Amino acid sequence: MAATKKLLRALAGEVQAVPPVWLMRQAGRYLPEYKATRARAGDFLTLCYTPDLAAEVTLQPIRRYGFDGAILFADILLVPQALGADLWFVTGEGPRLSTITTQDDFDALRRVGDIHETLSPIYETLRIVKPELPPEVTLIGFAGAPWTVATYMIAGRGTPDQGPAHALKQGNRPVFDALIDRITAATVEYLSAQIEAGAEVVKLFDSWAGSLKGADFERYALAPAKAIISELKARHPQTPVIAFPRQAGAHYVGFARSTGADCVALDNSVSAEWAAAKVQVDGCVQGNLDPKHMVTGGPTMIDETRRIIRAFANGPHVFNLGHGITPDADPDNVSRMLEAIRG
Ligand code: CP3
Repeated sequence: MAATKKLLRALAGEVQAVPPVWLMRQAGRYLPEYKATRARAGDFLTLCYTPDLAAEVTLQPIRRYGFDGAILFADILLVPQALGADLWFVTGEGPRLSTITTQDDFDALRRVGDIHETLSPIYETLRIVKPELPPEVTLIGFAGAPWTVATYMIAGRGTPDQGPAHALKQGNRPVFDALIDRITAATVEYLSAQIEAGAEVVKLFDSWAGSLKGADFERYALAPAKAIISELKARHPQTPVIAFPRQAGAHYVGFARSTGADCVALDNSVSAEWAAAKVQVDGCVQGNLDPKHMVTGGPTMIDETRRIIRAFANGPHVFNLGHGITPDADPDNVSRMLEAIRG
Protein backbone atom coordinates (compact mmCIF):
# COMPACT_ATOMS: atom_id res chain seq x y z
CA MET A 1 0.00 0.00 0.00
CA ALA A 2 1.36 3.43 -0.93
CA ALA A 3 2.00 5.74 2.00
CA THR A 4 -0.66 8.36 2.68
CA LYS A 5 0.95 10.20 5.58
CA LYS A 6 2.97 13.27 4.57
CA LEU A 7 6.08 12.24 6.47
CA LEU A 8 6.10 8.72 5.03
CA ARG A 9 5.54 10.11 1.54
CA ALA A 10 8.56 12.41 1.84
CA LEU A 11 10.69 9.50 3.09
CA ALA A 12 9.52 7.49 0.06
CA GLY A 13 10.89 10.26 -2.17
CA GLU A 14 7.83 12.37 -2.89
CA VAL A 15 8.43 16.07 -3.49
CA GLN A 16 5.78 18.15 -1.68
CA ALA A 17 5.03 21.87 -1.99
CA VAL A 18 4.53 21.99 1.80
CA PRO A 19 7.04 19.67 3.49
CA PRO A 20 6.08 17.56 6.51
CA VAL A 21 7.49 18.98 9.76
CA TRP A 22 8.43 17.80 13.24
CA LEU A 23 11.13 18.98 15.65
CA MET A 24 13.90 17.19 17.47
CA ARG A 25 13.16 17.35 21.24
CA GLN A 26 9.66 18.59 20.44
CA ALA A 27 8.55 17.14 23.78
CA GLY A 28 10.68 19.02 26.26
CA ARG A 29 11.21 21.68 28.84
CA TYR A 30 10.19 24.63 26.61
CA LEU A 31 6.59 23.36 26.99
CA PRO A 32 4.76 24.10 30.28
CA GLU A 33 2.69 20.92 29.86
CA TYR A 34 5.90 18.86 29.62
CA LYS A 35 7.22 20.44 32.81
CA ALA A 36 3.96 19.61 34.58
CA THR A 37 4.07 15.93 33.56
CA ARG A 38 7.79 15.76 34.33
CA ALA A 39 7.02 17.11 37.83
CA ARG A 40 4.35 14.43 38.28
CA ALA A 41 6.89 11.75 37.29
CA GLY A 42 9.42 13.18 39.75
CA ASP A 43 12.48 12.56 37.63
CA PHE A 44 13.41 12.17 33.98
CA LEU A 45 14.10 8.42 34.00
CA THR A 46 10.83 7.68 35.79
CA LEU A 47 9.11 9.68 33.06
CA CYS A 48 10.85 7.57 30.38
CA TYR A 49 9.93 4.27 32.06
CA THR A 50 6.29 5.10 32.94
CA PRO A 51 4.42 4.32 29.69
CA ASP A 52 1.29 6.37 30.46
CA LEU A 53 3.34 9.48 31.24
CA ALA A 54 5.83 8.97 28.39
CA ALA A 55 2.87 8.54 26.01
CA GLU A 56 1.32 11.73 27.38
CA VAL A 57 4.45 13.82 26.71
CA THR A 58 4.88 12.22 23.27
CA LEU A 59 1.37 13.43 22.40
CA GLN A 60 1.59 16.94 23.93
CA PRO A 61 3.39 18.61 20.99
CA ILE A 62 1.03 16.88 18.54
CA ARG A 63 -2.00 18.34 20.33
CA ARG A 64 -0.47 21.81 20.59
CA TYR A 65 1.03 22.10 17.09
CA GLY A 66 -0.23 19.30 14.86
CA PHE A 67 3.25 18.15 13.79
CA ASP A 68 3.44 15.49 11.06
CA GLY A 69 5.59 13.23 13.23
CA ALA A 70 5.35 12.14 16.87
CA ILE A 71 8.70 11.00 18.27
CA LEU A 72 8.68 8.42 21.03
CA PHE A 73 9.59 9.97 24.37
CA ALA A 74 12.64 8.13 25.68
CA ASP A 75 16.41 8.68 25.65
CA ILE A 76 19.40 7.25 23.79
CA LEU A 77 21.02 6.39 27.13
CA LEU A 78 18.40 3.78 28.03
CA VAL A 79 20.30 1.24 25.88
CA PRO A 80 23.48 1.50 28.01
CA GLN A 81 21.28 1.05 31.07
CA ALA A 82 19.64 -2.01 29.48
CA LEU A 83 23.15 -3.36 28.85
CA GLY A 84 23.88 -3.05 32.57
CA ALA A 85 25.43 0.40 32.97
CA ASP A 86 24.32 2.52 35.93
CA LEU A 87 22.57 5.66 34.68
CA TRP A 88 21.37 8.75 36.48
CA PHE A 89 20.74 12.40 35.62
CA VAL A 90 22.19 15.28 37.63
CA THR A 91 19.83 18.26 37.52
CA GLY A 92 21.35 21.14 35.61
CA GLU A 93 24.33 19.04 34.50
CA GLY A 94 23.14 16.07 32.47
CA PRO A 95 23.64 12.31 32.36
CA ARG A 96 26.06 10.24 34.45
CA LEU A 97 26.90 6.57 33.81
CA SER A 98 29.26 3.97 35.20
CA THR A 99 32.27 3.85 32.85
CA ILE A 100 33.63 1.20 30.49
CA THR A 101 37.39 1.45 30.15
CA THR A 102 38.69 -2.11 30.63
CA GLN A 103 38.02 -5.65 29.42
CA ASP A 104 36.57 -6.42 32.88
CA ASP A 105 34.12 -3.50 32.60
CA PHE A 106 33.08 -4.79 29.20
CA ASP A 107 32.74 -8.38 30.44
CA ALA A 108 30.35 -7.22 33.17
CA LEU A 109 27.85 -5.91 30.60
CA ARG A 110 24.65 -7.81 29.97
CA ARG A 111 23.89 -9.81 26.82
CA VAL A 112 22.02 -8.27 23.91
CA GLY A 113 19.12 -10.70 24.40
CA ASP A 114 18.57 -9.30 27.92
CA ILE A 115 17.88 -5.68 26.93
CA HIS A 116 14.11 -6.08 26.59
CA GLU A 117 13.84 -6.71 30.33
CA THR A 118 14.71 -3.04 30.89
CA LEU A 119 13.28 -1.63 27.69
CA SER A 120 9.83 -3.25 27.59
CA PRO A 121 8.12 -0.12 29.06
CA ILE A 122 9.39 1.81 26.02
CA TYR A 123 7.60 -0.58 23.68
CA GLU A 124 4.49 -0.17 25.80
CA THR A 125 4.71 3.63 25.33
CA LEU A 126 4.57 3.08 21.55
CA ARG A 127 1.60 0.75 21.88
CA ILE A 128 -0.25 3.39 23.92
CA VAL A 129 0.59 6.28 21.60
CA LYS A 130 -0.17 4.61 18.27
CA PRO A 131 -4.00 4.46 18.50
CA GLU A 132 -4.11 7.95 20.06
CA LEU A 133 -2.45 9.63 17.06
CA PRO A 134 -4.45 11.52 14.43
CA PRO A 135 -4.44 9.37 11.28
CA GLU A 136 -2.11 11.70 9.36
CA VAL A 137 0.63 11.67 12.04
CA THR A 138 3.60 9.29 11.76
CA LEU A 139 5.06 7.56 14.83
CA ILE A 140 8.87 7.82 15.00
CA GLY A 141 11.06 5.50 17.05
CA PHE A 142 14.75 6.11 17.66
CA ALA A 143 18.03 5.00 19.15
CA GLY A 144 21.48 6.49 19.54
CA ALA A 145 24.10 5.34 17.03
CA PRO A 146 26.86 3.10 18.43
CA TRP A 147 29.64 5.71 18.44
CA THR A 148 27.54 8.35 20.22
CA VAL A 149 26.25 5.84 22.78
CA ALA A 150 29.80 4.53 23.30
CA THR A 151 31.10 8.05 24.01
CA TYR A 152 28.73 8.27 27.00
CA MET A 153 29.43 4.69 28.16
CA ILE A 154 33.20 5.21 28.08
CA ALA A 155 33.33 8.69 29.65
CA GLY A 156 30.37 8.23 31.99
CA ARG A 157 29.03 11.63 30.92
CA GLY A 158 28.78 14.06 28.02
CA THR A 159 32.15 15.40 26.90
CA PRO A 160 32.97 18.40 24.69
CA ASP A 161 35.44 16.53 22.45
CA GLN A 162 34.66 12.84 23.18
CA GLY A 163 38.25 12.61 24.48
CA PRO A 164 37.84 9.48 26.64
CA ALA A 165 36.21 7.54 23.77
CA HIS A 166 38.96 8.56 21.35
CA ALA A 167 41.53 7.56 23.99
CA LEU A 168 40.02 4.07 24.40
CA LYS A 169 39.84 3.70 20.62
CA GLN A 170 43.58 4.44 20.43
CA GLY A 171 44.61 2.68 23.64
CA ASN A 172 42.53 -0.51 23.73
CA ARG A 173 41.07 -1.18 20.31
CA PRO A 174 39.75 -4.68 21.15
CA VAL A 175 37.59 -3.40 24.02
CA PHE A 176 36.48 -0.38 22.00
CA ASP A 177 35.50 -2.54 19.02
CA ALA A 178 33.73 -5.07 21.23
CA LEU A 179 31.71 -2.24 22.79
CA ILE A 180 30.75 -0.82 19.39
CA ASP A 181 29.68 -4.31 18.27
CA ARG A 182 27.62 -4.90 21.42
CA ILE A 183 25.81 -1.58 21.03
CA THR A 184 25.27 -2.24 17.31
CA ALA A 185 23.63 -5.60 18.01
CA ALA A 186 21.53 -4.17 20.87
CA THR A 187 20.38 -1.29 18.66
CA VAL A 188 19.11 -3.69 15.99
CA GLU A 189 17.06 -5.57 18.60
CA TYR A 190 15.81 -2.36 20.23
CA LEU A 191 14.70 -0.72 16.97
CA SER A 192 13.14 -3.96 15.70
CA ALA A 193 11.11 -4.19 18.89
CA GLN A 194 10.06 -0.53 18.49
CA ILE A 195 8.87 -1.26 14.95
CA GLU A 196 6.96 -4.32 16.17
CA ALA A 197 5.33 -2.10 18.83
CA GLY A 198 4.15 0.44 16.24
CA ALA A 199 7.01 2.75 15.18
CA GLU A 200 6.53 3.58 11.49
CA VAL A 201 9.95 5.21 11.00
CA VAL A 202 13.12 4.91 13.05
CA LYS A 203 15.88 7.46 13.47
CA LEU A 204 19.49 6.82 14.40
CA PHE A 205 21.04 9.75 16.33
CA ASP A 206 24.81 10.00 15.88
CA SER A 207 25.13 13.29 17.71
CA TRP A 208 28.94 13.09 17.96
CA ALA A 209 29.68 11.73 14.46
CA GLY A 210 31.47 15.00 13.70
CA SER A 211 34.41 14.11 15.93
CA LEU A 212 35.22 11.01 13.85
CA LYS A 213 37.74 11.91 11.15
CA GLY A 214 38.84 10.13 7.99
CA ALA A 215 38.94 6.32 8.26
CA ASP A 216 37.43 6.52 11.78
CA PHE A 217 34.30 8.05 10.29
CA GLU A 218 33.96 5.15 7.84
CA ARG A 219 34.61 2.55 10.50
CA TYR A 220 32.64 3.90 13.47
CA ALA A 221 29.89 6.13 12.01
CA LEU A 222 29.22 4.76 8.54
CA ALA A 223 29.81 1.01 9.03
CA PRO A 224 27.65 0.60 12.18
CA ALA A 225 24.82 2.62 10.57
CA LYS A 226 25.06 0.41 7.50
CA ALA A 227 25.03 -2.78 9.59
CA ILE A 228 22.01 -1.63 11.63
CA ILE A 229 20.07 -0.43 8.59
CA SER A 230 20.72 -3.54 6.51
CA GLU A 231 19.56 -5.83 9.32
CA LEU A 232 16.46 -3.66 9.94
CA LYS A 233 15.70 -3.69 6.21
CA ALA A 234 15.97 -7.50 6.19
CA ARG A 235 13.48 -7.76 9.05
CA HIS A 236 11.23 -4.78 8.27
CA PRO A 237 11.66 -3.87 4.60
CA GLN A 238 8.79 -1.35 4.65
CA THR A 239 10.10 0.76 7.55
CA PRO A 240 12.12 3.83 6.53
CA VAL A 241 15.22 4.85 8.47
CA ILE A 242 16.48 8.39 9.07
CA ALA A 243 20.20 8.69 9.81
CA PHE A 244 21.58 11.72 11.65
CA PRO A 245 25.39 11.81 11.50
CA ARG A 246 25.48 15.24 13.15
CA GLN A 247 28.32 17.57 12.12
CA ALA A 248 29.44 15.10 9.45
CA GLY A 249 30.16 17.98 7.04
CA ALA A 250 31.59 16.60 3.78
CA HIS A 251 30.79 13.06 5.02
CA TYR A 252 27.09 13.82 4.52
CA VAL A 253 27.75 13.37 0.80
CA GLY A 254 26.92 9.78 -0.14
CA PHE A 255 25.96 8.81 3.44
CA ALA A 256 22.48 7.65 2.43
CA ARG A 257 23.82 5.66 -0.53
CA SER A 258 26.52 3.99 1.57
CA THR A 259 24.32 3.11 4.55
CA GLY A 260 20.94 2.43 2.90
CA ALA A 261 19.27 5.20 4.93
CA ASP A 262 16.04 6.55 3.40
CA CYS A 263 16.76 10.06 4.67
CA VAL A 264 19.73 11.95 6.04
CA ALA A 265 19.10 14.52 8.77
CA LEU A 266 21.26 17.62 8.45
CA ASP A 267 22.55 19.80 11.26
CA ASN A 268 22.67 23.55 10.73
CA SER A 269 26.43 23.76 10.18
CA VAL A 270 25.86 22.94 6.49
CA SER A 271 23.94 25.32 4.24
CA ALA A 272 20.64 24.14 2.80
CA GLU A 273 21.80 25.24 -0.66
CA TRP A 274 24.96 23.11 -0.44
CA ALA A 275 23.02 20.13 0.95
CA ALA A 276 20.38 20.38 -1.78
CA ALA A 277 23.11 20.06 -4.42
CA LYS A 278 25.29 17.47 -2.67
CA VAL A 279 23.06 15.36 -0.39
CA GLN A 280 19.46 15.69 -1.54
CA VAL A 281 20.49 14.41 -4.99
CA ASP A 282 20.51 10.94 -3.36
CA GLY A 283 17.05 11.23 -1.76
CA CYS A 284 15.16 12.72 1.14
CA VAL A 285 16.86 15.12 3.55
CA GLN A 286 15.66 16.44 6.90
CA GLY A 287 16.51 19.78 8.46
CA ASN A 288 18.00 22.18 9.13
CA LEU A 289 16.88 25.41 10.79
CA ASP A 290 19.21 26.64 13.54
CA PRO A 291 17.43 25.90 16.87
CA LYS A 292 18.41 29.38 18.13
CA HIS A 293 15.61 30.83 15.98
CA MET A 294 13.09 29.15 18.29
CA VAL A 295 14.49 31.44 21.02
CA THR A 296 14.97 34.64 19.01
CA GLY A 297 12.03 34.44 16.58
CA GLY A 298 11.10 37.55 14.59
CA PRO A 299 11.40 38.17 10.84
CA THR A 300 14.83 36.46 10.71
CA MET A 301 13.24 33.17 11.81
CA ILE A 302 10.57 33.51 9.11
CA ASP A 303 13.13 34.41 6.42
CA GLU A 304 15.39 31.50 7.36
CA THR A 305 12.44 29.06 7.42
CA ARG A 306 11.40 30.16 3.93
CA ARG A 307 14.98 30.06 2.64
CA ILE A 308 15.38 26.42 3.76
CA ILE A 309 12.08 25.41 2.18
CA ARG A 310 13.07 27.10 -1.10
CA ALA A 311 16.51 25.51 -1.11
CA PHE A 312 15.04 22.00 -0.72
CA ALA A 313 11.94 22.59 -2.87
CA ASN A 314 13.10 20.46 -5.81
CA GLY A 315 13.51 17.22 -3.87
CA PRO A 316 12.02 15.26 -0.97
CA HIS A 317 12.35 17.20 2.30
CA VAL A 318 11.26 16.88 5.91
CA PHE A 319 11.41 20.21 7.70
CA ASN A 320 13.13 20.10 11.11
CA LEU A 321 15.71 21.93 13.17
CA GLY A 322 19.43 21.22 12.84
CA HIS A 323 19.47 19.92 16.45
CA GLY A 324 17.08 19.71 19.39
CA ILE A 325 14.89 22.62 20.46
CA THR A 326 16.30 24.16 23.65
CA PRO A 327 14.52 24.73 26.99
CA ASP A 328 14.66 28.53 26.50
CA ALA A 329 12.67 28.36 23.21
CA ASP A 330 9.46 30.38 23.03
CA PRO A 331 6.51 28.05 22.24
CA ASP A 332 4.91 30.87 20.21
CA ASN A 333 7.91 30.95 17.86
CA VAL A 334 7.19 27.31 16.99
CA SER A 335 3.64 28.33 16.00
CA ARG A 336 4.94 31.21 13.90
CA MET A 337 7.46 28.93 12.17
CA LEU A 338 4.69 26.42 11.37
CA GLU A 339 2.60 29.25 9.97
CA ALA A 340 5.52 30.21 7.69
CA ILE A 341 5.84 26.61 6.50
CA ARG A 342 2.16 25.81 6.02
CA GLY A 343 0.81 29.26 5.14
O1 CP3 B 1 13.12 14.39 20.43
C1 CP3 B 1 12.29 14.08 21.32
O2 CP3 B 1 11.40 14.86 21.73
C2 CP3 B 1 12.29 12.65 21.84
C3 CP3 B 1 12.95 12.40 23.07
C4 CP3 B 1 14.47 12.50 23.14
C5 CP3 B 1 15.14 12.91 24.33
N1 CP3 B 1 16.47 12.73 24.15
C6 CP3 B 1 14.47 13.41 25.53
C7 CP3 B 1 15.26 14.12 26.55
C8 CP3 B 1 15.46 12.15 22.22
C9 CP3 B 1 15.31 11.70 20.77
C10 CP3 B 1 16.72 12.27 22.89
C11 CP3 B 1 18.00 11.93 22.24
C12 CP3 B 1 19.25 12.17 22.96
N2 CP3 B 1 19.49 12.06 24.29
C13 CP3 B 1 20.48 12.45 22.33
C14 CP3 B 1 20.69 12.54 20.84
C15 CP3 B 1 20.18 13.78 20.25
C16 CP3 B 1 20.93 15.04 20.63
O3 CP3 B 1 20.32 15.88 21.32
O4 CP3 B 1 22.09 15.17 20.21
C17 CP3 B 1 21.45 12.58 23.33
C18 CP3 B 1 22.91 12.92 23.12
C19 CP3 B 1 20.81 12.31 24.57
C20 CP3 B 1 21.44 12.23 25.91
C21 CP3 B 1 20.86 13.21 26.84
N3 CP3 B 1 19.59 13.14 27.36
C22 CP3 B 1 21.48 14.34 27.38
C23 CP3 B 1 22.89 14.79 27.06
C24 CP3 B 1 20.55 14.94 28.22
C25 CP3 B 1 20.80 16.12 29.14
C26 CP3 B 1 20.84 17.39 28.41
C27 CP3 B 1 19.54 18.10 28.57
O5 CP3 B 1 18.98 18.53 27.54
O6 CP3 B 1 19.11 18.24 29.72
C28 CP3 B 1 19.36 14.21 28.16
C29 CP3 B 1 18.09 14.50 28.88
C30 CP3 B 1 16.85 14.62 28.06
N4 CP3 B 1 16.50 13.77 27.06
C31 CP3 B 1 15.81 15.57 28.22
C32 CP3 B 1 14.81 15.26 27.29
C33 CP3 B 1 13.48 15.95 27.11
C34 CP3 B 1 15.77 16.66 29.28
C35 CP3 B 1 15.56 15.98 30.59
C36 CP3 B 1 14.66 16.71 31.55
O7 CP3 B 1 13.43 16.78 31.35
O8 CP3 B 1 15.19 17.15 32.57
